[in-house]
This record gives sequence, C-alpha cells and structure tokens, in this order.
Amino acid sequence: MLCALLLALASVAKGGNVDTPSGYINTRAANVSLAPSVDRLAAGLHIGVDYYPTQWPGFMWESDIAAMRNLNISYVRLNEFDWAVIEPTEGVYNFTALDTTLDLLGKYGLKAIIGTPTASPPNWLTEKYDVAFVDVTNSTYVFGSRRYYSFSSFDYREQSQKITRVLAERYGSNPNVAAWQIDNELGCHNTIRSYDHNAIIRFRSWLQKKYGTVEAMNAAQGRVFWSNQYASFDDVLPPYHEVYTTNNLYTLDWYTFSSDMVIEFAQEQAAIIRQYAPSQALTTNLQMLFTDFDAYKFAREVGIDIAYFDEYPLAGPSDFSWLTESQLAATLRTGLPDLQAFTHAVYRGVAGAAYGQTSGPLGVMEMEPGVLNWNTYRVSPWEGMVRLWTLETYAASGDVVSYFRWRQVPYAQEQTLSGLHISDGSQDEGFFEVQEVAFNDLPILRDELAVTNGSQQVTHEPQADIALIFDYASVWTWAIEPYSGSWDVLSSSYSGGVLSNIDLVYGFYSALRRLGLSIDVVGAEQNLSGYKMLVVPSIPIMPDVLNTALASYTDGPVVFGPRTAALTANYSYAPGIQPAAGAVRDRLPMRVTRIETPPSYANSSISYAGTNYSITAWEEWVSCSRGNASSNATVTSGSPHRQGKAAACASISQENGKQWHYLGFNPPADFLTAYLGDVAAAAGVIALTGKVASKDADLGETLRLLRRGNLLWAFNYGTESVAAPDVDANAKVIIGEQGDIPAAGVVVWKLAR
Ligand SMILES: *[C@@H]1O[C@H](CO)[C@@H](O)[C@H](O)[C@H]1NC(C)=O
Ligand SMILES: *[C@@H]1O[C@H](CO)[C@@H](O)[C@H](O)[C@H]1NC(C)=O
Ligand SMILES: *[C@@H]1O[C@H](CO)[C@@H](O)[C@H](O)[C@H]1NC(C)=O
Ligand SMILES: *[C@@H]1O[C@H](CO)[C@@H](O)[C@H](O)[C@H]1NC(C)=O
Ligand SMILES: *[C@@H]1O[C@H](CO)[C@@H](O)[C@H](O)[C@H]1NC(C)=O
Ligand SMILES: *[C@@H]1O[C@H](CO)[C@@H](O)[C@H](O)[C@H]1NC(C)=O
Ligand SMILES: *[C@@H]1O[C@H](CO)[C@@H](O)[C@H](O)[C@H]1NC(C)=O
Ligand SMILES: *[C@@H]1O[C@H](CO)[C@@H](O)[C@H](O)[C@H]1NC(C)=O
Ligand SMILES: *[C@@H]1O[C@H](CO)[C@@H](O)[C@H](O)[C@H]1NC(C)=O
Ligand SMILES: *[C@@H]1O[C@H](CO)[C@@H](O)[C@H](O)[C@H]1NC(C)=O
Ligand SMILES: *[C@@H]1O[C@H](CO)[C@@H](O)[C@H](O)[C@H]1NC(C)=O
Repeated sequence: MLCALLLALASVAKGGNVDTPSGYINTRAANVSLAPSVDRLAAGLHIGVDYYPTQWPGFMWESDIAAMRNLNISYVRLNEFDWAVIEPTEGVYNFTALDTTLDLLGKYGLKAIIGTPTASPPNWLTEKYDVAFVDVTNSTYVFGSRRYYSFSSFDYREQSQKITRVLAERYGSNPNVAAWQIDNELGCHNTIRSYDHNAIIRFRSWLQKKYGTVEAMNAAQGRVFWSNQYASFDDVLPPYHEVYTTNNLYTLDWYTFSSDMVIEFAQEQAAIIRQYAPSQALTTNLQMLFTDFDAYKFAREVGIDIAYFDEYPLAGPSDFSWLTESQLAATLRTGLPDLQAFTHAVYRGVAGAAYGQTSGPLGVMEMEPGVLNWNTYRVSPWEGMVRLWTLETYAASGDVVSYFRWRQVPYAQEQTLSGLHISDGSQDEGFFEVQEVAFNDLPILRDELAVTNGSQQVTHEPQADIALIFDYASVWTWAIEPYSGSWDVLSSSYSGGVLSNIDLVYGFYSALRRLGLSIDVVGAEQNLSGYKMLVVPSIPIMPDVLNTALASYTDGPVVFGPRTAALTANYSYAPGIQPAAGAVRDRLPMRVTRIETPPSYANSSISYAGTNYSITAWEEWVSCSRGNASSNATVTSGSPHRQGKAAACASISQENGKQWHYLGFNPPADFLTAYLGDVAAAAGVIALTGKVASKDADLGETLRLLRRGNLLWAFNYGTESVAAPDVDANAKVIIGEQGDIPAAGVVVWKLAR
C-alpha cells in the first residue's frame, strides 16, 4: 500500500508544478500536476449508467449490477450525493456501501466513476460550519434539497477537501474505479453567485488584486457617475440591494469573480484526486446551456481529462424565448435539432481547452431516457429519440453515454423522473432503445470507427472546417446590458430582455448546420489556424488574445455578428462609437453610431441578394466607412426609418484577399443560412455531403448531419420521415436503410474516401 503510494507520487512529480489554488490546500497535494492526459481514459465506445445503491436495499445491488452487465454497460457513476452515508457524523466514516458496490462492479467487470459528494453536505456540517449560500435578495438558504453552500465559504472549502482526500486515499488505486466526477452539476439552481459574507471577503481581495488601488477601480468602473466612488475596498459589497441599475463593469467583475470561485473550488479537489488517484481520470458533469462559469477556464485550470455533460434534450427548448408555438410543437418530443449538437461541440471545445487544443474527449454523464421532472410541461420523448440522442453523441466524437438513472426511485424529490426501469424493476421504454444501441448499433460502430491506432488511442477527430467562437464573458456582458427588458431590483438584473448572447450563438450555429457544414465551437483562447472560415456571433469585449489571433488569421473569411468588439475591456464605449478597438476596427472600416431593439411591430427589415427579411430585437445604425477608408454594404436596411441604408459591411483584405463581414442586426435563420452559405461557397468550404457549400443545400428544419472518421451520419429530428441527403453513390449504408429517413431515424454511411 505504502509502496504503491510512493510510486504514484513519483510518477505525478514528473508533471511539474502548477499554481496552487488558494485556500486550505494540503501541502502534499500542492505539488501535484493538474495536467490532463488521454492515457487515463479507456479506448472505445461505451455506455454507462447512474446508480444509487444506497437508495435501495442491499439485497438488490448484486442483481442490479448483474443486469447492468447484461446490458453491456461499462461504467457506473455513483456516490455523488452520499456524503451523509459515508460520514454520518463528523470524522466517523462508513464505507460499507461503497466498498461493497465497488467489489460487485469488479466481480461483473464494470468500473465506477465516483462523484465527490460535495453537492449535498450532511446536516451536521451545515449546523456546525459557516457554509450557507446567500442569494441576491440576501436570503440565506437552509439545509435540505441540495447545493446549499457557497463556493467562497472557507469552512466549506476545507470540509470538501477533507472528504475528497478521504475518498481519494481509499479508492485512488482501486482497480474498479475508472474516474472521478468533481461535485455534481456545479452551479445548478443558480448557485454560482453567492452573496454571503465569505464571498464578500474574497471579492474584496479579488478586486484589490485586479485593480491595485480603490482609486484605479473607481476610475475603471467609471464610478464618478452618480457619485458611486468607494473610499476603500473594505466597503465594497456585491452588486445587490441597490435602488436601481448597478455599475456595468463592477457587475461583470462580480460575475467573473463568482466564476473564479467555482474554478478554485474544483481545483482544490482536483489536486487531491491527482495526488491519490494519478492514473484514474478526472472530470465533472457540465450542463447544457449553463453559462454562469467559464468552462474553458475551468478546463484549463482544473485540468480535466475528459468533458462530460448532462444531456436533457427536452429541457432545452424553453430556454429560447423566440421560439414560435409551432417550433415548440414540432420539437416538443424530440428536442431542438441543433441544441444537442451545439452542446457536444461546446464541450468538445472545452475538453480541448484543457489540452490547449481545439477539441478533446467527450462523454455524456446523464442522458435522458424518458420524462423529466423539472420542466414546465413534461412529455415523453418520441419513440426512437433516446437512441437518436445517444448515437448523435457518438457521431459528435463522444465515447461514453451514461443514462440517468438505472431505476426510477419511488420516493423523495425525483420520484417523477424516468429511469431505464420503472420503480417496480420492470424495464421502461428507454431501456429497449438502449438495448438496441448496445447490441445492434455499437458492435457496428466499434468495428467501423478506428478508435485506436496501434496502442495509441485516437481520442478526437480532426479540426472541423469552421470555427464558431464562443465566450462566456460575452454571455455575461449581454445579460448585464441587454438593451431591452426592464430592471428588476430584487434580482439586480434585467428581466424580459429580447435578445441574449446565446440566442445569437445558437442562431449562427444552427444556420451553419442547416448548410451541412462541419463546425467546431471554440473559446477565444484557442489557436484558429487551419480553419477555413471563422464565425463570431457576438463578442462585445474582445479578449486581447482573440484580437491578436484575428489580426494574423489568414486562412479564410470571418463573419462577425452584432455588437462584436463594441466595448473596451472596461465595459465602455470608445469614441466612434464602435467597433471600440482591435482587429475588427483596424481591418473593417465601418462605424456603428446607434443601437435599437425594435419589436416586431416596428416593421424593421433587411434586404440581401434580392430577398427581404423581417428583423426584430437588434438593429444597429451602421455606416460602411471610418475616416477615409470604406467597406462595402452587403445588406441594406428596409426599415421604415432607414430605407436603403447599410445594415452590414464587408471588406476584402489588401494583403490576403480574405473577406471580413459584420452584420449589424439580429439575423433571422433564413437570412443567415443564405448569407453564411454564400460566404462558405466563396471560400470553397466543402459540406459534409462532399459537395461545395451552397445556400441552396439547406437541410431544412429537421434533417442534420455529422461526420466522425469516415462515417457520415444523418439524424431526423422530425416526427415524419424526411428525404435522405444526397450523398456519394459509393457510400454504403451501415446503420438504417437506404431511402427516406423515418421519424426519429438515424442513417450512417461508410464513405469511400
Ligand atoms: C515539487 O516537486 C519538485 C520536483 O518535481 C521539487 O523540486 C520541489 O521541491 C517540490 N516542491 C514542493 C513544495 O514540495
Ligand atoms: C460489450 O462492450 C464491450 C466494450 O466494453 C465490447 O467490446 C463488446 O463487444 C460488447 N459486447 C456486445 C455483445 O456488444
Ligand atoms: C454502514 O453502512 C451500511 C450500508 O449502508 C449499513 O448497513 C450499516 O448499518 C452502517 N454501519 C453503521 C455502523 O452505521
Ligand atoms: C444581509 O444579511 C446579513 C445577515 O442577516 C446582514 O448582516 C447584512 O447586513 C445583509 N446585507 C444587506 C445588504 O442587506
Ligand atoms: C480601464 O480603466 C483604467 C483606469 O481608468 C485605465 O487605466 C485603462 O486604460 C482602461 N482600459 C481600457 C481598455 O480602456
Ligand atoms: C497512427 O499513428 C501513426 C504513428 O504514430 C501516425 O503516423 C498516423 O498518422 C496515425 N494515424 C491516425 C489515423 O491517427
Ligand atoms: C497555431 O497553430 C499553427 C499550426 O499548428 C502554428 O503554426 C502556430 O504557431 C500556432 N499559433 C500559436 C499562437 O500558437
Ligand atoms: C407596420 O406595418 C403594419 C402593416 O402594414 C402597419 O399597420 C403598422 O402601422 C406598421 N408599424 C409601424 C411602426 O410602422
Ligand atoms: C487616411 O487617414 C489616415 C489617418 O487617419 C492617414 O494616415 C492616411 O494617410 C490616409 N490615407 C489616405 C489614402 O488618405
Ligand atoms: C423589399 O423591400 C423593399 C422596401 O424596403 C421593396 O422596395 C422591395 O420591393 C421588396 N422586395 C421584395 C422582393 O419584396
Ligand atoms: C467592394 O467590393 C468590390 C466588388 O466586389 C471589391 O472590388 C472591393 O475591393 C470591395 N471593397 C472593399 C473595401 O472591400
């Protein structure tokens, strides 16, 4: 035991030093490398399940695990809510359940993914220690439910490290453990921004570190306005309980600080897991459309080996206010056709960020198998969708899909949430679709996808043709000043805004997919070299690193959406008004002098290539010149008050002939498909069907394509059959049938090339 530990320490020391997070880090852990490695992951395509043995009598555990084996499950995620089981009173541990489960997993050839149980601290802990979450209304949350802690709590950081160390020490070299999940759905239920007194202490020192002096902070935040200057960092409070709108940069600082606290919290656990479990993989389960912390920075600084996320497709549509009733109806039981792929792309990029690359290993930790228990309207997935969502994950380069949960639990908060089995143990509908994946689809896919190369694991696919740049700080920047909606004092934020950063990002992504193109979603820090085209839906404050990368990017055209480069790093407008600075301002001679957010009854419209499109929610006054230089107006306004004036500008680089485009409005889907189709066609981008991109090759509402290796995949998100795409005649169907693709159907072709 001791020997093994020393060897383990010797092997991690080679990784070198990392910055040690602040807080109560064990000094022995402080010298551990957080560097990710694909060597900690098993090769191949797998399925998994989420299982809660302690919620069932012990006599059921072995038969459950034997049945998992029979479904060809490889991984079982467990323990993430069992702190009170493991440590029923402080310092008194009971490992019986976890020891027994791990032994049983070993007996049946399965491996565990252990969740650190910090999403639900036991009652003795919350009674004794200062850990409570405080919301924006200054309400202190009490014990019960889950996530009732603050990431900034000094006591909670210490207690979390302690339980993580106890578990990692005990199971870090257990052969039945494959990986560790840090906490569970970090920040779920609006728990990133805690306004507790520990957070206030940490925020003050965070600001002091950023600005040095309170005078510099006052200057940068423009606190001369309304006499808002602080006299000392000791007086600073978070942006809450103010009579009216809070200062923009200070609010952005608070959001960034709160994101940093989650990252520190996870880093502290990661250092301990790396120390005791150097060959087991490290991850966490991220969430769909969750933007309250910067997942790219998280991946880089925590050093996760693989990005996992929780895929609940039927929870998503309600997040987009602009969906019409008919779109909501069409996607009620299927989910939005691009939301799952978008999330796969985001987290593939997040995993890539850990490795300093554009994409990295991906998995789903919780896949929806039936009816959810938290969305407004709760409906069953259309028959076939559980299989479709699963196969789409593999197509998007995911290697593991784990289903939530093995069996529906008949009591407590999640009694109405479906599992693979209903609570009496009989198989639920989702089970049969997973069976089809396990025994019909996966054997074919395992054969066809070269996931290993000699002894070398090939963990991700080559770079896509197009990079869409996504940035968490931009989501916050948009939320802080959405230019629409009304200020809500209690939540210290705008509500009812008509356009968000995510709306724009999703719109651009969806248009590129309708064109059947291959797309990576990457953070602002990634190397953009090699992409045939870049799309920047909206980054109001351009990070320096992105400005530098754009300034030297010559591999293809770039399309910027509204409000891009509008603001300085201090959340101000530069004279001009915008673009504020940087590559966009330098390379695209144009100005934006006014912004409007018109309702649909304002009759705003644009005209592009002979077609008119209605626009709403965002409309800039653009002029395609700045100083003595000018660009071309590519889209004109048809709005009653701006007839014929520019709505978008483009210029061709003198040096490399590449085009830069700026769209000064909220682009409707049909327009975007046409415009991006033309830009991609001019750049010679090849669609996944093998043909040159074209706006005329619009896949429409329900058909979507992905490519992995030499397999081309088609997914029908509709509840009626759809004509198959026009693919190479030499391509051979290996899953599904030739001809029309049925409702919720999947077809996979093996391409000749
Ligand atoms: C960290 O490890 C390196 C060797 O990799 C060693 O030189 C250094 O002294 C260690 N630092 C601490 C604080 O243990
Ligand atoms: C079960 O899964 C493993 C991968 O863990 C695979 O190698 C094996 O072929 C699968 N068995 C069946 C019957 O599909
Ligand atoms: C320890 O946990 C096991 C399994 O959950 C339980 O049966 C047992 O009673 C516990 N032991 C003590 C001393 O509480
Ligand atoms: C928030 O609540 C705490 C504890 O009750 C109190 O000390 C503090 O003054 C309150 N802060 C504000 C801004 O109301
Ligand atoms: C931000 O504000 C500080 C303080 O006024 C100033 O020194 C700095 O240049 C500003 N930065 C930008 C990018 O405007
Ligand atoms: C397989 O590995 C060899 C040797 O490392 C390398 O040259 C080759 O490109 C790899 N092939 C793939 C498909 O990654
Ligand atoms: C980006 O990648 C290209 C190609 O791999 C490489 O030549 C270039 O040096 C990289 N740029 C940066 C800033 O790392
Ligand atoms: C928009 O068009 C409708 C129909 O032509 C018209 O009734 C309405 O007055 C127009 N609204 C504005 C703001 O011009
Ligand atoms: C355009 O204006 C810039 C300064 O704003 C000046 O440096 C440049 O020489 C001018 N170019 C022409 C062609 O007049
Ligand atoms: C587009 O709108 C303009 C007015 O902005 C109008 O003159 C033109 O006829 C419209 N074109 C089409 C094709 O409807
Ligand atoms: C405007 O478009 C014309 C025709 O395509 C092109 O020759 C010219 O270079 C463009 N001007 C700029 C500033 O890009």
